[in-house]
Amino acid sequence: MTTDFYNKVAQKFGNYHTGAKYFSEFPNGEPEKIFKEKLTAISGKKKTALDVGCADGRFTISVAPLFQKITAIDLSQGMLEAAKKLQQEQSINNINFEEQNASQTNYADDSFDVAYSRRGPTPYHEFQRVLKSSGYFVGINIGEKDCQEIKEIFGRGQGFNQWHTSALEKAKQNLLENNFFIIFAQDYFYNEYYQSPEDLDLFLQGVPIFEDYDPENDKKMLKSYVAKFSIKKGIKFPRHRFVIVAQKL
Ligand SMILES: C[S@@+](CC[C@H](N)C(=O)[O-])C[C@H]1O[C@@H](n2cnc3c(N)ncnc32)[C@H](O)[C@@H]1O
Repeated sequence: MTTDFYNKVAQKFGNYHTGAKYFSEFPNGEPEKIFKEKLTAISGKKKTALDVGCADGRFTISVAPLFQKITAIDLSQGMLEAAKKLQQEQSINNINFEEQNASQTNYADDSFDVAYSRRGPTPYHEFQRVLKSSGYFVGINIGEKDCQEIKEIFGRGQGFNQWHTSALEKAKQNLLENNFFIIFAQDYFYNEYYQSPEDLDLFLQGVPIFEDYDPENDKKMLKSYVAKFSIKKGIKFPRHRFVIVAQKL
Protein backbone atom coordinates (compact mmCIF):
# COMPACT_ATOMS: atom_id res chain seq x y z
CA MET A 1 0.00 0.00 0.00
CA THR A 2 1.34 3.44 -0.97
CA THR A 3 1.38 5.04 2.50
CA ASP A 4 3.41 2.09 3.85
CA PHE A 5 5.81 2.51 0.95
CA TYR A 6 6.39 6.23 1.65
CA ASN A 7 6.74 5.62 5.40
CA LYS A 8 9.38 3.00 4.65
CA VAL A 9 11.27 5.40 2.35
CA ALA A 10 11.11 8.21 4.97
CA GLN A 11 12.47 5.82 7.58
CA LYS A 12 15.26 4.53 5.36
CA PHE A 13 16.48 7.81 3.79
CA GLY A 14 15.15 10.38 6.32
CA ASN A 15 13.34 12.14 3.46
CA TYR A 16 12.29 11.58 -0.19
CA HIS A 17 15.79 11.80 -1.71
CA THR A 18 18.11 8.81 -2.14
CA GLY A 19 21.23 10.66 -3.28
CA ALA A 20 21.62 8.41 -6.37
CA LYS A 21 23.91 10.03 -8.95
CA TYR A 22 22.44 10.80 -12.37
CA PHE A 23 22.00 13.60 -14.84
CA SER A 24 19.17 14.41 -17.24
CA GLU A 25 18.86 15.52 -20.87
CA PHE A 26 15.68 17.30 -21.99
CA PRO A 27 15.13 17.33 -25.78
CA ASN A 28 11.74 19.12 -25.62
CA GLY A 29 11.72 21.15 -22.40
CA GLU A 30 12.33 20.49 -18.72
CA PRO A 31 8.98 19.57 -17.19
CA GLU A 32 9.88 20.40 -13.56
CA LYS A 33 11.07 23.84 -14.63
CA ILE A 34 7.91 24.43 -16.67
CA PHE A 35 5.71 23.25 -13.79
CA LYS A 36 7.43 25.71 -11.43
CA GLU A 37 7.12 28.52 -13.98
CA LYS A 38 3.39 27.84 -14.36
CA LEU A 39 2.93 27.73 -10.58
CA THR A 40 4.92 30.95 -10.16
CA ALA A 41 2.83 32.68 -12.84
CA ILE A 42 -0.41 32.08 -10.93
CA SER A 43 1.03 32.58 -7.44
CA GLY A 44 0.68 35.71 -5.31
CA LYS A 45 1.53 37.04 -1.86
CA LYS A 46 -2.18 37.33 -1.11
CA LYS A 47 -3.00 33.83 -2.35
CA THR A 48 -3.38 30.56 -0.48
CA ALA A 49 -2.31 27.22 -1.94
CA LEU A 50 -3.00 23.54 -1.31
CA ASP A 51 0.01 21.26 -1.92
CA VAL A 52 -1.39 17.79 -2.57
CA GLY A 53 0.90 14.90 -1.59
CA CYS A 54 3.74 17.10 -0.31
CA ALA A 55 5.98 14.18 0.84
CA ASP A 56 9.10 15.56 2.62
CA GLY A 57 8.06 19.16 1.94
CA ARG A 58 11.26 20.17 0.18
CA PHE A 59 9.41 21.51 -2.85
CA THR A 60 6.71 23.12 -0.65
CA ILE A 61 9.39 25.04 1.22
CA SER A 62 11.00 26.15 -2.05
CA VAL A 63 7.75 27.81 -3.20
CA ALA A 64 6.60 29.11 0.22
CA PRO A 65 7.80 32.70 -0.53
CA LEU A 66 5.41 32.81 -3.51
CA PHE A 67 2.24 32.49 -1.39
CA GLN A 68 0.64 34.00 1.68
CA LYS A 69 0.06 30.53 3.08
CA ILE A 70 0.42 26.92 1.88
CA THR A 71 -1.52 24.01 3.35
CA ALA A 72 0.51 20.93 2.48
CA ILE A 73 -1.11 17.53 2.88
CA ASP A 74 0.04 13.94 2.82
CA LEU A 75 -1.02 10.58 4.24
CA SER A 76 2.47 9.40 5.21
CA GLN A 77 3.29 10.32 8.80
CA GLY A 78 6.97 9.57 8.15
CA MET A 79 7.09 12.07 5.27
CA LEU A 80 5.15 14.69 7.27
CA GLU A 81 7.63 14.36 10.14
CA ALA A 82 10.52 14.90 7.70
CA ALA A 83 8.69 17.94 6.26
CA LYS A 84 8.09 19.53 9.67
CA LYS A 85 11.72 18.99 10.63
CA LEU A 86 12.92 20.69 7.45
CA GLN A 87 10.47 23.56 7.99
CA GLN A 88 11.80 24.13 11.52
CA GLU A 89 15.41 24.01 10.34
CA GLN A 90 14.67 26.66 7.73
CA SER A 91 12.41 28.81 9.97
CA ILE A 92 9.55 28.88 7.47
CA ASN A 93 6.26 29.90 9.05
CA ASN A 94 3.66 30.11 6.28
CA ILE A 95 3.18 26.36 5.70
CA ASN A 96 0.85 24.05 7.60
CA PHE A 97 1.75 20.39 7.06
CA GLU A 98 -1.32 18.28 7.74
CA GLU A 99 -2.30 14.62 7.56
CA GLN A 100 -5.26 14.55 5.18
CA ASN A 101 -6.58 12.22 2.51
CA ALA A 102 -6.52 14.29 -0.70
CA SER A 103 -9.70 12.59 -1.96
CA GLN A 104 -11.72 13.69 1.03
CA THR A 105 -10.20 16.59 2.94
CA ASN A 106 -11.92 18.41 5.78
CA TYR A 107 -11.40 21.87 4.24
CA ALA A 108 -14.43 24.06 3.59
CA ASP A 109 -15.71 24.70 0.06
CA ASP A 110 -13.95 27.59 -1.77
CA SER A 111 -10.91 27.61 0.57
CA PHE A 112 -7.89 27.97 -1.75
CA ASP A 113 -6.76 30.12 -4.67
CA VAL A 114 -4.45 27.41 -6.04
CA ALA A 115 -4.19 23.64 -5.73
CA TYR A 116 -1.05 21.95 -7.02
CA SER A 117 0.17 18.38 -7.21
CA ARG A 118 3.80 17.51 -7.91
CA ARG A 119 3.51 13.81 -8.66
CA GLY A 120 0.94 13.56 -5.88
CA PRO A 121 -2.66 12.34 -6.10
CA THR A 122 -5.13 14.25 -8.29
CA PRO A 123 -8.74 13.90 -7.08
CA TYR A 124 -10.10 16.67 -9.31
CA HIS A 125 -13.59 16.49 -7.77
CA GLU A 126 -12.07 17.53 -4.43
CA PHE A 127 -10.02 20.32 -6.08
CA GLN A 128 -13.25 21.60 -7.67
CA ARG A 129 -14.84 21.72 -4.22
CA VAL A 130 -12.02 23.33 -2.20
CA LEU A 131 -10.86 25.83 -4.83
CA LYS A 132 -12.33 29.32 -4.89
CA SER A 133 -14.21 30.39 -8.01
CA SER A 134 -11.69 30.87 -10.89
CA GLY A 135 -9.02 29.14 -8.77
CA TYR A 136 -6.22 27.26 -10.51
CA PHE A 137 -4.97 23.70 -10.55
CA VAL A 138 -1.34 23.08 -11.62
CA GLY A 139 0.03 19.57 -11.88
CA ILE A 140 3.07 17.62 -12.97
CA ASN A 141 2.54 13.92 -13.15
CA ILE A 142 3.85 10.64 -14.49
CA GLY A 143 3.17 9.76 -18.10
CA GLU A 144 2.16 6.30 -19.30
CA LYS A 145 5.54 5.65 -20.98
CA ASP A 146 7.61 6.50 -17.91
CA CYS A 147 10.50 3.99 -17.69
CA GLN A 148 8.54 1.51 -19.80
CA GLU A 149 11.74 -0.37 -20.72
CA ILE A 150 12.71 -1.39 -17.18
CA LYS A 151 9.10 -2.26 -16.33
CA GLU A 152 9.00 -4.55 -19.39
CA ILE A 153 12.17 -6.33 -18.25
CA PHE A 154 10.87 -6.65 -14.67
CA GLY A 155 7.40 -7.68 -15.93
CA ARG A 156 5.70 -5.35 -13.42
CA GLY A 157 5.65 -1.79 -12.07
CA GLN A 158 3.58 1.36 -11.70
CA GLY A 159 1.17 1.64 -14.66
CA PHE A 160 2.50 -1.62 -16.16
CA ASN A 161 1.24 -2.34 -19.68
CA GLN A 162 -0.75 0.89 -19.95
CA TRP A 163 1.73 2.30 -22.48
CA HIS A 164 -0.96 3.23 -25.00
CA THR A 165 -3.46 4.97 -22.73
CA SER A 166 -2.49 8.65 -22.61
CA ALA A 167 -2.28 9.75 -18.96
CA LEU A 168 -2.44 13.38 -20.11
CA GLU A 169 -5.65 12.80 -22.11
CA LYS A 170 -7.15 10.97 -19.12
CA ALA A 171 -6.29 13.88 -16.81
CA LYS A 172 -7.73 16.41 -19.29
CA GLN A 173 -10.95 14.42 -19.60
CA ASN A 174 -11.24 14.12 -15.83
CA LEU A 175 -10.67 17.86 -15.37
CA LEU A 176 -13.31 18.70 -18.01
CA GLU A 177 -15.80 16.36 -16.33
CA ASN A 178 -15.17 18.21 -13.07
CA ASN A 179 -15.86 21.63 -14.63
CA PHE A 180 -12.34 22.88 -15.17
CA PHE A 181 -11.14 24.81 -18.20
CA ILE A 182 -7.79 23.52 -19.57
CA ILE A 183 -5.24 26.32 -19.99
CA PHE A 184 -2.11 24.28 -20.70
CA ALA A 185 -1.41 20.58 -21.22
CA GLN A 186 1.85 19.10 -22.50
CA ASP A 187 3.74 15.79 -22.52
CA TYR A 188 7.52 15.72 -21.93
CA PHE A 189 9.88 12.88 -22.80
CA TYR A 190 13.48 12.96 -21.56
CA ASN A 191 16.32 10.72 -20.42
CA GLU A 192 18.12 10.26 -17.15
CA TYR A 193 21.58 8.66 -17.11
CA TYR A 194 22.57 6.82 -13.93
CA GLN A 195 26.26 6.83 -13.23
CA SER A 196 26.54 3.22 -11.99
CA PRO A 197 24.36 0.13 -11.38
CA GLU A 198 24.62 0.97 -7.65
CA ASP A 199 23.13 4.42 -8.28
CA LEU A 200 20.22 2.96 -10.25
CA ASP A 201 19.69 0.34 -7.53
CA LEU A 202 19.63 3.06 -4.84
CA PHE A 203 17.22 5.18 -6.88
CA LEU A 204 14.82 2.24 -7.34
CA GLN A 205 14.75 1.68 -3.58
CA GLY A 206 13.44 5.20 -3.00
CA VAL A 207 10.73 5.61 -5.65
CA PRO A 208 7.42 3.80 -6.24
CA ILE A 209 8.26 2.60 -9.79
CA PHE A 210 8.30 -0.88 -8.22
CA GLU A 211 6.82 -0.53 -4.74
CA ASP A 212 8.08 -4.06 -3.99
CA TYR A 213 11.60 -3.48 -5.37
CA ASP A 214 14.07 -5.78 -3.66
CA PRO A 215 17.79 -5.30 -4.39
CA GLU A 216 18.43 -9.00 -3.77
CA ASN A 217 15.44 -10.60 -5.55
CA ASP A 218 15.61 -8.16 -8.49
CA LYS A 219 19.39 -8.33 -8.95
CA LYS A 220 19.28 -10.45 -12.12
CA MET A 221 16.68 -8.28 -13.84
CA LEU A 222 18.50 -5.08 -12.92
CA LYS A 223 21.67 -6.60 -14.37
CA SER A 224 19.95 -7.37 -17.67
CA TYR A 225 18.54 -3.80 -17.82
CA VAL A 226 22.00 -2.34 -17.16
CA ALA A 227 23.54 -4.57 -19.85
CA LYS A 228 20.95 -3.46 -22.42
CA PHE A 229 20.85 0.28 -21.62
CA SER A 230 24.45 1.18 -20.71
CA ILE A 231 26.03 3.74 -23.02
CA LYS A 232 28.98 6.10 -22.63
CA LYS A 233 26.91 8.69 -20.76
CA GLY A 234 25.66 6.19 -18.21
CA ILE A 235 22.68 3.84 -17.82
CA LYS A 236 19.91 5.31 -19.92
CA PHE A 237 16.57 5.63 -18.15
CA PRO A 238 13.74 7.13 -20.28
CA ARG A 239 11.22 9.28 -18.41
CA HIS A 240 7.79 10.70 -19.25
CA ARG A 241 6.01 13.53 -17.43
CA PHE A 242 3.09 15.80 -18.25
CA VAL A 243 2.29 19.30 -17.03
CA ILE A 244 -1.23 20.62 -16.83
CA VAL A 245 -2.79 23.94 -15.83
CA ALA A 246 -6.54 24.33 -15.43
CA GLN A 247 -8.99 26.86 -14.02
CA LYS A 248 -12.16 26.21 -12.06
CA LEU A 249 -15.18 27.34 -14.07
C1 LIG B 1 5.65 11.06 -5.44
S1 LIG B 1 5.29 11.61 -3.85
C2 LIG B 1 5.12 13.34 -4.04
C3 LIG B 1 6.38 14.11 -4.00
C4 LIG B 1 6.26 15.56 -3.56
N1 LIG B 1 5.09 16.23 -4.03
C5 LIG B 1 7.51 16.31 -3.97
O1 LIG B 1 7.36 17.37 -4.57
O2 LIG B 1 8.62 15.83 -3.70
C6 LIG B 1 3.58 11.21 -3.62
C7 LIG B 1 3.09 11.59 -2.22
O3 LIG B 1 1.65 11.55 -2.23
C8 LIG B 1 1.22 11.03 -0.99
N2 LIG B 1 -0.15 10.51 -1.15
C9 LIG B 1 -0.57 9.43 -1.85
N3 LIG B 1 -1.91 9.30 -1.79
C10 LIG B 1 -2.36 10.33 -1.03
C11 LIG B 1 -3.66 10.76 -0.61
N4 LIG B 1 -4.75 10.09 -0.97
N5 LIG B 1 -3.75 11.87 0.15
C12 LIG B 1 -2.64 12.56 0.51
N6 LIG B 1 -1.39 12.22 0.12
C13 LIG B 1 -1.25 11.11 -0.62
C14 LIG B 1 2.25 9.95 -0.67
O4 LIG B 1 2.25 9.63 0.71
C15 LIG B 1 3.53 10.62 -1.14
O5 LIG B 1 4.21 11.29 -0.11
